[in-house]
Amino acid sequence: MGLVGFGGIVFLVYMRYFSTPNPKAQSRLVATTEMENFFAAHWQRPIPLQGVAPPSYGGKEASLRPEACGSCHPTQYADWKESLHRRAMGPGPWGQIIDLTQNSPEEAIQCMTCHAPLSEQMPALEKTTDGKGNSYAKNPNFDPRLQLEGITCAACHVRRHQRFGPPKAQGASATRYPPGTPSHEGVQRTPYFEKAEFCKDCHQFDPENSLLVNGKPLQDTYREWKNSIWGKGEAACQDCHMSGRRHLWKGIHDRDMVKGGVRIEAHLKKLTAISESPLELSVAVTNAAVGHKFPTYITPKIFVLADLLDESGKSLPGTSQEQIIGWDTRFVNGQWKEYFDTRIAPGEISRKIFKWTPPARATQARVRVEVQPDHFYHVHFYPAYLKGENLSNDGKRLVEKALKESGGTSFVIFEEVIPLS
Ligand code: HEC
Ligand code: HEC
Ligand code: HEC
Ligand code: HEC
Ligand code: HEC
Repeated sequence: MGLVGFGGIVFLVYMRYFSTPNPKAQSRLVATTEMENFFAAHWQRPIPLQGVAPPSYGGKEASLRPEACGSCHPTQYADWKESLHRRAMGPGPWGQIIDLTQNSPEEAIQCMTCHAPLSEQMPALEKTTDGKGNSYAKNPNFDPRLQLEGITCAACHVRRHQRFGPPKAQGASATRYPPGTPSHEGVQRTPYFEKAEFCKDCHQFDPENSLLVNGKPLQDTYREWKNSIWGKGEAACQDCHMSGRRHLWKGIHDRDMVKGGVRIEAHLKKLTAISESPLELSVAVTNAAVGHKFPTYITPKIFVLADLLDESGKSLPGTSQEQIIGWDTRFVNGQWKEYFDTRIAPGEISRKIFKWTPPARATQARVRVEVQPDHFYHVHFYPAYLKGENLSNDGKRLVEKALKESGGTSFVIFEEVIPLS
């Protein structure tokens, strides 16, 4: 690998999850259904070069740039611009990939197969597919303006310049285009765009062939969904993350989205003064409508915080307690280690009882639930990465920016103050 620093370590991990398709291994996996065949072709990543556009296409129809799609599809474009898919080459990923591009194009491409998957987004491409090791050549079709656009419209919708999309929406919700609008020779419509399997390639690591931490792949979202009531026909990823065919993909970074997925209840119980802890506050967090574990990834943490307050509402020292919901797993001394996994599966409840012997001044108890969507990156990953050697000035500057930004994404989804009497 010849790589110093954290990037190499991360890569090693990702490499195990998602090694470049090996033709021999592929042929063993007999695709059994039409849907699997469709996705095997649709999600070859990097997505093969599109080639030359049909001569009938005008400039905008031939362009892969999102703003070109946006000139005829303004609503999807406006949504997408706000989404995290658009920011998948933000300072965190790009700060690492920029150095990998110089030192190890192979690793850079691995990251980009999920973060910027079009071949046109890659400065170099693999030259040989004869299995004789990896050799990289400059990509003459590289579009530097496309590179940092992350997961573009074309990544999901365009193959060999042909448009793919879901069945036409019915009735009033169907999009109408001004008469005479050029239409890139129509659309290949398929119900597979409405299936959870559409999202699986980037949001699920292969459990048979990837690193497992305490038996679990680091990204297991599709399987968590499949094993829940949602995966038994209740709702696909799109029903919750693209409802009304919106292109926002809101998730753990959005307060309303998170609030809509969970139910939180707090109850105070006063026991007799002779009992050891005469005050008990029980907090129940229910995964009511999250289609997978809450949260699904190792990156977010949810803090359930409880303390006692005096009459003026001031927190009394020594009374603060917390419970953390999340999967705490980290890369320490050369290997991944699980510290705890308190994530909540769909339909399940996490209960915590906080106990105190209240100081005389305590008049009320408070409970707050705070979401830190980027906890792992902010607290563990970026600080460790920045200690690495051989970071370029650009890479360092970007990851410092990511460290700063990742500290400002927290929000509170629940707060209740309960009088003790
Ligand atoms: C010059 C205008 C124009 C441009 C540019 C354009 N489209 Fe379209 N697109 C259309 C029209 C018109 C239709 C309706 C075609 C039909 O129903 O047969 C359409 C339909 C679609 C559909 C099906 C949606 C529906 O309404 O049912 C998808 C998906 C799509 N386009 C994706 C894209 C993407 C991705 C890009 C950029 C890479 C793009 N289009 C660029 C005009 C355009
Ligand atoms: C080409 C790979 C790819 C595909 C396909 C894909 N995603 Fe993503 N998705 C990503 C990456 C990478 C991120 C992280 C972006 C970032 O924050 O840098 C992401 C982020 C998200 C988030 C935001 C999570 C958060 O932190 O709040 C949601 C929600 C999401 N994706 C849902 C979906 C759904 C639903 C689909 C299927 C319709 C889908 N994705 C398809 C790669 C993909
Ligand atoms: C199999 C798809 C996949 C691969 C390969 C992949 N990522 Fe990601 N990455 C994701 C998804 C999905 C998320 C969003 C979930 C999360 O935050 O953990 C993400 C999130 C991130 C984030 C935090 C979000 C942000 O925008 O700040 C960083 C940083 C990141 N990836 C860097 C990398 C790097 C560097 C590589 C290559 C060494 C890589 N990723 C390879 C799918 C992938
Ligand atoms: C991560 C993959 C992904 C990306 C990126 C993406 N789309 Fe889509 N798009 C989908 C899926 C999946 C659907 C179908 C959703 C459904 O049926 O619920 C869809 C639906 C559509 C439709 C049909 C809308 C309707 O009302 O019928 C259009 C048009 C479209 N996309 C255009 C775009 C444009 C333009 C962009 C970029 C600005 C874009 N998409 C980016 C996955 C994506
Ligand atoms: C029943 C609704 C529902 C379904 C179905 C659903 N999700 Fe979610 N998802 C949510 C809610 C609510 C959140 C916010 C809470 C959270 O982060 O756990 C979320 C969060 C996320 C996140 C943010 C990261 C994290 O650690 O939580 C990603 C990524 C994601 N979903 C992807 C998917 C994918 C991929 C599928 C399909 C396999 C899917 N979701 C199915 C409701 C749903």
